[in-house]
Amino acid sequence: MSLWTQKNRIVITCAKGIAPFLKEEVLSLGLPILSEGIADVETEGTMEDAIKLNLFLRTGQRVLFLLEEFNAKRPDELYNKVSRIKWEDIIPEDGYLCVTSSVETSTIKDSRFANLKCKDAIVDRMNEKCGRRPDSGPKRDRTVIHLYWKDERCQIYVDTSGEPLSRRGYRRIPLRAPMQETLAASVILATGWKGNGNFINPMCGSGTLAIEAAMIALNKAPGLLRNNYGFMHLKGFNESSWNALRKKTRVIAKKSLNGRIIATDISQEAIEAAKKNATTAGVAHLMEFGVCGYSETPVPKGGGVVVLNPEYGERLGEIEKLKEVYKGIGDFFKKKCQGYKGYIFTGNLDLAKKVGLKTKRRIPFFNSNIECRLLEYDLYEGSRKMQAPISK
Ligand SMILES: C[S@@+](CC[C@H](N)C(=O)[O-])C[C@H]1O[C@@H](n2cnc3c(N)ncnc32)[C@H](O)[C@@H]1O
Repeated sequence: MSLWTQKNRIVITCAKGIAPFLKEEVLSLGLPILSEGIADVETEGTMEDAIKLNLFLRTGQRVLFLLEEFNAKRPDELYNKVSRIKWEDIIPEDGYLCVTSSVETSTIKDSRFANLKCKDAIVDRMNEKCGRRPDSGPKRDRTVIHLYWKDERCQIYVDTSGEPLSRRGYRRIPLRAPMQETLAASVILATGWKGNGNFINPMCGSGTLAIEAAMIALNKAPGLLRNNYGFMHLKGFNESSWNALRKKTRVIAKKSLNGRIIATDISQEAIEAAKKNATTAGVAHLMEFGVCGYSETPVPKGGGVVVLNPEYGERLGEIEKLKEVYKGIGDFFKKKCQGYKGYIFTGNLDLAKKVGLKTKRRIPFFNSNIECRLLEYDLYEGSRKMQAPISK
């Protein structure tokens, strides 16, 4: 059966803690969930489904389409079994190949050796069948094959994403401590904001949260901005049906928002970057930007969500200064954000205590390897139901 017609397992990887949001996204695209791990979700479908997942998923990192699975104990066995796959039907012989892997097996100490064996098996077969072979190396901008080898079980996937899906293509201006796009999207999904009410984002930095919020509210596919994916570098890729899908997706995206999106930061440089990034993402015209301290951020009537991602601090001196910032966020919530749901995304729970308000929910996340929480506060309207302060 051809790569383009067979239905197979599809593993979608994600950052730790994000799988519950990814699972909901996969289900809403009409695909089943076969399993859910800490950092992946498994579904099944055709290569066409894998392409849709690349275009529509906001929280996934890589979409891996299973080609073959088998048992192998040693590297030579891996080589032999990988050689049996009809690579000449999958990879263009004048293309470029990258092999990635996740290896946990007793016969391999260095996963690079497993990559090499797998790559050799592919290019040797292609040389034999086609008289030439693709170049190979570490760049993930063309065909990417992924080897998963645990104990004796091997799975060979096409990484249909190539570059990770967090690289949406709009964040061209790097700033300090930006949040990964997929994490920012998960944070918005966790708040439940879909364009209902206003979205207020003081301390916006490079604008990732506000940009992802705009794209969610517009129902704009996050993958539309990117023009390169791994699946485009497979034999049989149909460019015109991909373009037709993109066109259809553009048509269904909304053109305007009900609420306002306000993004501010104390740093002029951050706001310049956020504006540029939002322009690249095609959502700047729907956002309001301002240079100001977080407590000066305008919070219009009508409710919605206020989301802040303050620094967590690494050195002692920084943490001392940040205590005041976190305390000030609590005051800002109490004084200016009544009728809103307030959120703080932080990796420092001691600092979060300085906010001085009772949390309604504490949603676990990871930012790289740092365990974080998205803290939710109900900021009721009126003085009585306003947050009860908690003891510090
Ligand atoms: C961790 S970064 C936010 C990163 C952002 N989520 C992103 O994806 O780029 C924290 C931001 O808070 C801003 N900031 C620090 N102190 C502030 C203050 N008192 N008022 C407003 N913004 C402040 C910094 O300039 C920085 O851009």
